[in-house]
Amino acid sequence: MKISVSFLKARYSFFKTLTFLEKSSADYLHVDVMDGLFVNNRTPFSKEMLDALKRNKKPKEVHLMTLHLKKFIDIFSYIEPEVIVYEFEATTKHEELISYIKTKNCRVGIAISPLTNLDYLLPYLTEIDMVLVMSVIPGYGGQKFIPDTLKRIEKLKKIRKEKKANFLLHVDGGVNESTILDLKSVKPDRVVVGSYVCGAVDFDKQLEKLEEYL
Ligand code: DX5
Ligand code: ZN
Repeated sequence: MKISVSFLKARYSFFKTLTFLEKSSADYLHVDVMDGLFVNNRTPFSKEMLDALKRNKKPKEVHLMTLHLKKFIDIFSYIEPEVIVYEFEATTKHEELISYIKTKNCRVGIAISPLTNLDYLLPYLTEIDMVLVMSVIPGYGGQKFIPDTLKRIEKLKKIRKEKKANFLLHVDGGVNESTILDLKSVKPDRVVVGSYVCGAVDFDKQLEKLEEYL
């Protein structure tokens, strides 16, 4: 399991947090983007913030929790992420969006909310590079991990095998030193960790604790 760190809920300033993360053992930076429409929360990014993200040496993944997806794909492809993930529930135009993200030379991920039936993803699973299984309701950092997520990961793993698909399975929300133990039993490819790391004084100490369980 690789670790991707979300800085949505952070103790330090945006710029300080990015510097700490760049020096840390985190495998990826997870950039949460919220528009105040698809979810209530809003995360404004200035040009300086986008530049700092672009300069940061960690590989990046962008998680769009927004409507107007093409607009946000245009804005965030500037930071050269490895992958852009959008919320399945935010659109019905999946074919179009998958192709659009590919034109930006990014891999494509689809995030699925805990209450959405996984079967809706079936037509797209051989066309995308990752599924982000949401283990909280999208919108806020610091929520509790929803245990049913474990079954959803197992189901998607089974489907992946049956379809001979190549998408990676990532989990996002409520991951900490206790829930990582449950996740270990179903082994997603990557976990997103937010407040457990960025809400703490010492990021490295938190990452070390998680890494013990990987
Ligand atoms: C939730 C976000 C997550 C979240 C992770 O809507 O997509 O990335 O901020 O933070 P924690 O680990 O605090 O749940
Ligand atoms: Zn996220």
